[in-house]
Amino acid sequence: MHKILVTGGTGFIGSHTVVELYQAGYTPIIIDNLSNSSIRILDQIEKIIDYRPEFHQFDLCDEVAVKNFVANNPDISGAIHFAASKAVGESVLKPLKYYHNNFFSLINLLNAYQDTPINFVFSSSCTVYGQPDQLPVSESAPVKTAESPYGNTKQIAEEILQETAQAYDNYQIVSLRYFNPAGAHSSALIGELPIGVPQNLVPFITQTAIGKREKLTVFGGDYDTTDGSCVRDYIHVVDLAKAHVAAIQLLEKGNPAGRYDVFNIGTGIGYSVLEAIKAFEKTSGQQLNYEVGPRRDGDIVKVWGDVTKSAEKLGWKAELGIEEMMKSAWAWEKYIQQNPLVD
Ligand code: WQD
Repeated sequence: MHKILVTGGTGFIGSHTVVELYQAGYTPIIIDNLSNSSIRILDQIEKIIDYRPEFHQFDLCDEVAVKNFVANNPDISGAIHFAASKAVGESVLKPLKYYHNNFFSLINLLNAYQDTPINFVFSSSCTVYGQPDQLPVSESAPVKTAESPYGNTKQIAEEILQETAQAYDNYQIVSLRYFNPAGAHSSALIGELPIGVPQNLVPFITQTAIGKREKLTVFGGDYDTTDGSCVRDYIHVVDLAKAHVAAIQLLEKGNPAGRYDVFNIGTGIGYSVLEAIKAFEKTSGQQLNYEVGPRRDGDIVKVWGDVTKSAEKLGWKAELGIEEMMKSAWAWEKYIQQNPLVD
């Protein structure tokens, strides 16, 4: 079955997508520089699918290495590009690292496929919307000035992809705008690998619950929302992974909408931080130690996706809800407490 390149394939979303690709009958092949993941994730993937994906360790910023890889792997029909730096806060402190890594890796990959038909799926983000004027936010909503260099790299990458698809006829491209990925595989063998202090809410919740963190701070309780805390559209990472399989399948059929398209990947439901905490407490039976503290700079107040286009055109819909996200995240946290995968 078709060989699909997965860059960043040992990462959080990448590893779940490798599993879903294989289970949908594809042959995934991974490139990862392991800068933000562990080679042991390959063992974990193998435990789930009983197959060890081909793995290549190098940096996509190395133009020669990318060109050699593509030349030596002519039977790759699709590529899903996850590999990027993605910590919003860090991007403010180190913008050049983000612009260098996120643009050079993308452009090297596109250049290497310039003379080859390729179905290309890009990992984008709802951060391109900023604080939408209208909710739920649809793909036709204006892209707003990015709040961070990270968000800016996603916006500019989408422009690069759109212009590439318009200028050359060998690329068929889809950008998937993720909302907030959360949860873990039902086997609890893969999940969001904790490297350093978690920036995102859900790993901070589970690490607080297991005792790795003393207390969770809710960043702001005085926003204009039902309970004063920010609202987000959390999407189960397995649903998110399946959306990438659906995108490859759409491109293999030929997207009637054209060679470049964008889809919102969320549930279409917004949960506040306090509601997310309650969902965790309910599914885990754990009382969470948290307090409401000051707002975090750069946070938008509320966002959730209009996901009708994904249902109608991509043929994909989220199936798992917030409680399954919290249940699987908690099972994963307990698994890595017994089986630390990072040194
Ligand atoms: C969610 C909510 C916080 C931690 C970011 C990126 C986005 C995507 C997902 C990559 C916010 C609150 C958090 C904590 C809290 N990443 N929070 N206490 O900022 O919505 O999105 O991650 O694609 O691009 O921007 O996610 O999980 O950091 O925060 O109260 O300890 O939880 O204020 O309201 P965010 P998040």
